[in-house]
Amino acid sequence: MIKIKVKNSGIIELQLFDDFPDGQLVIAEVKKHIPFEIRRLYFITNVFRNRSLRGKHAHKKLEQYMFCLNGSCIIKLDDGTKKQKMIMRDPRFGIRLGPMLWHTMMRFSKDCVLLVVANDHYDESDYIRDYKEFLKLAKKKI
Ligand code: TYD
Repeated sequence: MIKIKVKNSGIIELQLFDDFPDGQLVIAEVKKHIPFEIRRLYFITNVFRNRSLRGKHAHKKLEQYMFCLNGSCIIKLDDGTKKQKMIMRDPRFGIRLGPMLWHTMMRFSKDCVLLVVANDHYDESDYIRDYKEFLKLAKKKI
């Protein structure tokens, strides 16, 4: 399993019931797997261009976990000091997107479905969308 090197990230493994050939059941429970109360979820589908980029931002406070429910994509994580690239393709594993973690998703397969659970409602003022500003803020927080 991949080791996370960047700050404010991590991997959680969900509970799996493999009923091959009748399907796989994957379960996430708050507190047991997801360490916060979920106040919002969103999903990304229908990314048809292989060169599409999503994310390209960090959050000041928000906590999120991202799951790849189907297909695959690459996620790049950057905490302002260290960078890491991972392939997402196993729905059992969630990647923590904690505060101050610049994340970019790319190389989507056409059937890729990403699910994100978040600990708060949508708030544009929590976003850092400018990479230079992100680096400045990340250096301040060391
Ligand atoms: P954005 O977070 O930039 O998407 P991604 O990280 O997947 O590339 O969001 C795209 C647009 O959708 C932006 O205008 C904000 C809006 N949005 C909401 O209104 N609510 C939400 O919960 C999210 C995640 C985005």
